[in-house]
Amino acid sequence: KNLNKKLSKININSASELEIFRIKYLGKKGILNSFFKEFKYINNYEKKNIGLSLNTFKKNIKNIILYYKNFFLKKKYINNNIEDLTKPGNKKDLGSRHPISIIKHRILNIFNKIGFKICEGPEIEDDWYNFTALNFPYHHPAREMQDTFFIKKSNKLLRTHTSSVQIRYLEKNKPPIRIISPGRVYRNENISSYSHCMFHQIEGLYLDKKVSFKDLKNTINFFIKNFFGKSLTRLRPSYFPFTEPSAELDILWNNKWLEIIGCGMVDPIVLKNVNIDPDIYSGFAFGMGIERISLMIYNLNDIRFFFENDLRFLEQFKKEF
Ligand code: PHE
Repeated sequence: KNLNKKLSKININSASELEIFRIKYLGKKGILNSFFKEFKYINNYEKKNIGLSLNTFKKNIKNIILYYKNFFLKKKYINNNIEDLTKPGNKKDLGSRHPISIIKHRILNIFNKIGFKICEGPEIEDDWYNFTALNFPYHHPAREMQDTFFIKKSNKLLRTHTSSVQIRYLEKNKPPIRIISPGRVYRNENISSYSHCMFHQIEGLYLDKKVSFKDLKNTINFFIKNFFGKSLTRLRPSYFPFTEPSAELDILWNNKWLEIIGCGMVDPIVLKNVNIDPDIYSGFAFGMGIERISLMIYNLNDIRFFFENDLRFLEQFKKEF
């Protein structure tokens, strides 16, 4: 019993020490054998107990040898620069959705519920889809160099808004039309905390017989209620070449009125441009910037966060999906 206790305190530091240990205990002239030699002289009463102790002793020795053998073997592998195959694998960090994507999907889901189908268009456009078909007069300031990125020696440009998708869809489809179009847009603006030369919009278009301004209002209110919860909003008259009348929706957010949606009734000129009879059909359109809404929702004050790909920023959105 004492020997078993002693074993529990044993410490072996090398393979050669282990061999010495083995010979000392298990060798022909070792401690274990000497005990077994004396075993036959023990009287019958004590034989059972001492026999059990001896067996435990033998088992303990064997376990110690096995343990250290594996230990030194492993060490040798590592020293030989062979990868330790028993090591746990390296954890790979999973990515997560970008905050702009998260907000985009939330917005799209709400419009999907009321029958708006997703439809996308190209980011490289021409004058027709981005301006002319949308009733931009030739002298309109938005056509000038300071706003639009034109592509040299071509009639191509980077779209300045997703309204171009309205025209692409209207050219190929007959009413009733209910589409929602997310996408990147580009404007030649200085980059600052509140503006960027590239950002994202979501465009909506609804065209059918007898669509009224009331339908526009109801649709937008449905979205606001579902996305922001109960919030105070106001519609202000505004101007866009492709809608008449036009309006802007403001929302009261942290005690400030923020402009978040441009909208209006599709201008009859636009319908004529795509061969749809404005005496039969009418509709509404709206557009919103995803960055601006994301800044509100996440309480951020700098649009540049979204495009710098700083992991310390992006990782904060991991829990959301
Ligand atoms: N295209 C407009 C913009 O970029 C937004 C808008 C879309 C306004 C649809 C009215 C209707 O600001």
